[in-house]
Amino acid sequence: MYDGYYSSKKTDDICDNVCGQGRPAFSMSRVKCLLRGFDLKAIVFLLVVLPFCIFTVYMHGQKISYFFRPLWESPPKPFHEIPHYYGRSVSMESLCKLHGWKIRESPRRVYDAILFSNEIDILTVRWNELYPYVNQFVLLESNSTFTGLPKRLHFANNRDKFKFIQPRLIYGMIGGRFKKGENPFVEEAYQRVALDQLLKIAGIEDDDLLIMSDADEIPSAHTINLLRWCDDIPPILHLQMRNYMYSFEFYTDNNSWRASVHRYESGKTQYAHYRQSDYLLSDAGWHCSFCFRRISEFIFKMKAYSHNDRVRFSHYMDPRRIQDVICKGTDLFDMLPEEYTFKDIIGKMGPIPHSHSAIHLPAYILNNSEKYKFLLPGNCIREDSG
Ligand SMILES: *[C@@H]1O[C@H](CO)[C@@H](O)[C@H](O)[C@H]1NC(C)=O
Ligand SMILES: *[C@@H]1O[C@H](CO)[C@@H](O)[C@H](O)[C@H]1NC(C)=O
Ligand SMILES: *[C@@H]1O[C@H](CO)[C@@H](O)[C@H](O)[C@H]1NC(C)=O
Repeated sequence: MYDGYYSSKKTDDICDNVCGQGRPAFSMSRVKCLLRGFDLKAIVFLLVVLPFCIFTVYMHGQKISYFFRPLWESPPKPFHEIPHYYGRSVSMESLCKLHGWKIRESPRRVYDAILFSNEIDILTVRWNELYPYVNQFVLLESNSTFTGLPKRLHFANNRDKFKFIQPRLIYGMIGGRFKKGENPFVEEAYQRVALDQLLKIAGIEDDDLLIMSDADEIPSAHTINLLRWCDDIPPILHLQMRNYMYSFEFYTDNNSWRASVHRYESGKTQYAHYRQSDYLLSDAGWHCSFCFRRISEFIFKMKAYSHNDRVRFSHYMDPRRIQDVICKGTDLFDMLPEEYTFKDIIGKMGPIPHSHSAIHLPAYILNNSEKYKFLLPGNCIREDSG
């Protein structure tokens, strides 16, 4: 260390001596001196470091801003988390009592309402899970994605797969507005208002239970059974769910909270997918994101997604890349974890660890494990991967 410092100091000294002299004979040396001194560093900076920085920000700008998210965004107000009790052979009376609620003489009627995009398989799992306890299933689909792209009516085209639900189904279709360049959340809000209308058509009444969630947020059957049988449950209750990505092999965390259950109040209850109350029932189901059978469905969803600004490079849509991402548990959009503290961001960087547990999953998947094996651990290869 000392040597290096000494010799560079010495060079500077020589340079200073030479450059300090104003005679023309030394002009060549002077150029050399300029290059060797500050200006050489400036040239290197302009030609190498600066373009490199610009390139890095271009490639990873979103990552950089997400990394610093804890500085500009604080976490939402914490929920009041309600402990959740369940055991297979515990009576409903005891379960209600454990939660501090009374049991009713008869259960409430239950409505399950969703806006449907293209999640045919996860919809099958959802409806089979909830079937025993839901009186009316309400489904609305549009020929427009939230991002304003024309979309096929995936439910209408696959209706023969859902014969079992037919007597309990209220189906609605709404034409898209196809406004170019509009914020996707506007089309989403428009479709949710239409879903409110459809619920009225379906005959929902005060104090009926209404499940508001995306198709891939699946409440567990026993949770809905509990809420329909117990009195005094909060008027609006969010459901905490376990987050999974691509299949039940990749458990990410238990921070899903957007799904909610409402005791319907006409004139007041509005279909929404944001925070509506402070109550959160612990461990109430599964949120399986991008749990698709085919790569083509991943590509569709990536384009149709409200956050489609995340598709920054066309190679993100390469089917071989997507298959690789699904098997490794990395991120489809090459994003950093969306968290509120540096500790959580750093803790979640890199691929999601593989899980080998397939207990406490929706029963329909295990009952039909051959058909749904792509959702179970160890089966990441999709049907249409080249
Ligand atoms: C969408 O549906 C509406 C209502 O049925 C129809 O008028 C419109 O032509 C459809 N648009 C596309 C692109 O399919
Ligand atoms: C949710 O995850 C946290 C952190 O991993 C854990 O401490 C907590 O017990 C989990 N809650 C449930 C209900 O699984
Ligand atoms: C799973 O299979 C069992 C036994 O056939 C049946 O009783 C149960 O209802 C099935 N559950 C679902 C959700 O398919």
